[in-house]
Amino acid sequence: MTKRIYITTPIYYVNDKPHLGHVYTTVAADFLARYHRLEGRDVFFLTGTDEHGQKAEQAAQAKGQSTKEHVDFHSAVFQDLWKKMNVSNDDFIRTTEERHTKVVQNVLQHLFDRGEIYEDVYEGWYCVPDERFWTEKDLMDGNCPECGRKVERIKEKNYFFRMGKHQPWLIEYIKKHENYISPPARRNEVLGFLKKKLDDLCISRPKSRMAWGVELPFDSDYVSYVWFDALLNYISAPGYQSDDKSFSEIWPAHIHLIGKDILTTHSVYWSTMLKDMGLPLPQKIFAHGWWTIEGRKMSKSLGNVVDPVTVAEAVGLDPFRYFLMREVPFGMDGDFSVEALVSRINVDLANNLGNLVSRTLKMIAKYRGGSIPSPHGVPENLKTGAEQAAKNYASHLETPAFHKALEEVISLCDLVNGFIMESEPWKLAKDESKSERLDDVLYGSAEALRFIGRMIAPIMPDTGAKLQVMLGMEEGVHGSPEWGGLAPGRQVKDGDALFPRIDDKKKEEIIKAIFPTGEDKEESGLIAIEDVRKIDLRTAKIVKAERIEKSKKLLKLIVDLGFEKRQIVAGIAESYSPEELVGKQVVVVANLRPAKLMGVESKGMLLAADNAGKLSLIGAINDVNGGLKVL
Ligand code: MSP
Repeated sequence: MTKRIYITTPIYYVNDKPHLGHVYTTVAADFLARYHRLEGRDVFFLTGTDEHGQKAEQAAQAKGQSTKEHVDFHSAVFQDLWKKMNVSNDDFIRTTEERHTKVVQNVLQHLFDRGEIYEDVYEGWYCVPDERFWTEKDLMDGNCPECGRKVERIKEKNYFFRMGKHQPWLIEYIKKHENYISPPARRNEVLGFLKKKLDDLCISRPKSRMAWGVELPFDSDYVSYVWFDALLNYISAPGYQSDDKSFSEIWPAHIHLIGKDILTTHSVYWSTMLKDMGLPLPQKIFAHGWWTIEGRKMSKSLGNVVDPVTVAEAVGLDPFRYFLMREVPFGMDGDFSVEALVSRINVDLANNLGNLVSRTLKMIAKYRGGSIPSPHGVPENLKTGAEQAAKNYASHLETPAFHKALEEVISLCDLVNGFIMESEPWKLAKDESKSERLDDVLYGSAEALRFIGRMIAPIMPDTGAKLQVMLGMEEGVHGSPEWGGLAPGRQVKDGDALFPRIDDKKKEEIIKAIFPTGEDKEESGLIAIEDVRKIDLRTAKIVKAERIEKSKKLLKLIVDLGFEKRQIVAGIAESYSPEELVGKQVVVVANLRPAKLMGVESKGMLLAADNAGKLSLIGAINDVNGGLKVL
């Protein structure tokens, strides 16, 4: 039996349009899937849509559609998006499909029959938008700890999964299997969560409150809790209980790629569900970080939700995919900005990789009529460098540390560029006795490009294929990561630049495309969100305050921004004494041009409300760290 490398993404909710965050996980999974296929492994790459629950029902109602119409439409939007993003998933699961709902019902019945699911009366707090129950101690300031919204007190009959009893072994398992939950910071987070008593999990919702779900086979007044249903997609799609051969080839998953917000559901709910069903656990659950947009949370109300299709159209699909995987260490939070996007494309792709390809092909065309010469010797440094890069790349993809894998590619480009500079082929070409050396330099550079092509193909599939054609190779056949795979005698094909440089004019167009602003608003005196975004508002703690000699109004303050301490001169001496200010949390404009007031330098400004001349400083109500972005 051949085992397949099983790679999953979360299944996405269908309440809204897909955005950058959805594309992030899916492109990461695609990178991995394509890499393993290129290495000759059999892969099963799954993504899909999570279509039950209140969110889908409410979104449909808001549009006056039936829930079925709504989910069909949005699921199709996701499927279409993956085609546009060149995502090579092998299957797409929808939780409303019969192949899935059947499995959910079977599992529920099985656990119920064994007494692992029991009936009880639940009394406590419920967050309607998140569809989650919370205990008193979970609440934050009386609100939902996840979304901060109001919770409702409810008392109702429900069904519970005996999750709590799994706590001891789960802790042991996570401790023993170092990589099960990755990266390490997330693993610690889960272990921290498991220090508190683990409760049983409410897995039902009464139809009277929400009927859009999988009906419980043992009580037709109830549907399954959406997460219990959704997590089972990872086994229903590969054929659990419907195709034993397929299922045994695919399960357990090689990796579940998820975002950090859905770590508990995967590492705790899912692990205990599997254990109870007697199924092996996945090899790894990897939680990545979140993207902010130009320093702010991505949200509809801020009008900064990034549409991935627009970005791909503006800068090209491959560069966009590359940026997503290269820009931010996988596992950490990152910030999306057009500035970063353009700079990454120009520096790595246009200047480095693109130029290297172009100069190598031009030299082969000029000195050898476009035919790849036969080598006579091997440039050892280049060979070792390329083979080592390929090895490192492979080991980074095991983690997976996509950014590091791509760093290897760029370092190899640097190495080849340096090799060409040192070898000075333009001089060798002038000396007949150096002809063999010239052959070696040209072959070596082209062969190193084959290595580079092999490494970029999984993240930039079109570019990888183009590069193969340019090197006169057969499309799709990358050869091995051992030196010497490129066939001499093949004709290279030079063409347009692989990655045109993005100039300032084009950058402006990209900004307009990704963040369209309402022109008419400017005329009406209103400002666009971009204007608001220019102000870097941060929380800060006042650590020192003193009067400024000869000034009635000014105080000299030192504020702690978390990442640095700053001196700010503020005109608040008539409203506050220095003593009462120390320790206060305020909000400052952190990117104000420095100025001198009464000869004292000031680097920032405090926010205050003016109540007929008496100023009242604006600050955070809760005790928060300095340096937090104020949204
Ligand atoms: N339906 C559940 C998952 C069920 S899996 C059995 C769900 N769906 S979701 O559509 O809300 O989110 C899916 C993924 O998108 C999550 O992994 C989440 O982390 C990711 N992202 C949503 N916003 C994001 C960013 N701003 N940045 C990066 N990823 C983010 O949760």
